[in-house]
Amino acid sequence: MKKIVIFLSLLYYAFGVSTVSKSFRQHSDPIISYCTRLTVKPTELEEKITNDTINNDNWFVMLGAPEVLQLGKNFIQLIGAKKALDIGTYTGASAAAWATAMPSDGKVLSMDVSHASLDSIGKPLINQYSDIEKKIDFRLGPALETLDNLINNGESGKWDFCFIDADKVNYKNYYIKCVQLLRSGGVIMVDNALWGGSVVRDQWQSLDTRIIAETNEYISQDNSTNSALINVGDGLHLAFKK
Ligand SMILES: C[S@@+](CC[C@H](N)C(=O)[O-])C[C@H]1O[C@@H](n2cnc3c(N)ncnc32)[C@H](O)[C@@H]1O
Repeated sequence: MKKIVIFLSLLYYAFGVSTVSKSFRQHSDPIISYCTRLTVKPTELEEKITNDTINNDNWFVMLGAPEVLQLGKNFIQLIGAKKALDIGTYTGASAAAWATAMPSDGKVLSMDVSHASLDSIGKPLINQYSDIEKKIDFRLGPALETLDNLINNGESGKWDFCFIDADKVNYKNYYIKCVQLLRSGGVIMVDNALWGGSVVRDQWQSLDTRIIAETNEYISQDNSTNSALINVGDGLHLAFKK
């Protein structure tokens, strides 16, 4: 897996795309390392989840970039968020980050279709920190169903923060449902919004790339939010509900 990642990275460079990369990738740009070193302050639990995922899971590239998680934590504290939607659990790194940033009565609803990586890596670590563990509800099942259930149960406008980081084909649907569930002043973070830089390539775009690019265009035209598309991690589209 690591060899494939390095090969793909070299391909990106060969096509002249500027660096879009999570800080934990081995080839990472020195500027990214510099920014990360100065600003990312993970807790002991967050560091353990990151390291155990990188060392033990073949799909570690899916891990939330520490600089993205730090930015999300900063937003949570800035807006006083107490209710967060975490779409795409994997080993629980993003869920643990949001729970860490919240007060003791905060709640993170983390969604995934599989708990295999969570059960083998993240959960045993999170269980050692009862103050974090009690804030997270890990929900198994397709995220769209979970979001629809929330909407049907009258939860629209009641959530403060959403992190979109699951299957790319549903990105636009996730964004639309998150806007509905968010209160005014709430924040959405759409991860992988530059998808390794592939959103600006004209040729050989995968379905995932096309849907991410379409979602970026949709957000940019959406009058219910203000947005910022930034080159942090694998690209992050921030949307602030008006
Ligand atoms: C990129 S990983 C999430 C990483 C995590 N947010 C973090 O920061 O480390 C994407 C996850 O989305 C999950 N996923 C894929 N399709 C899904 C769906 N339809 N509903 C919910 N989760 C899904 C995958 O099983 C995978 O664990």
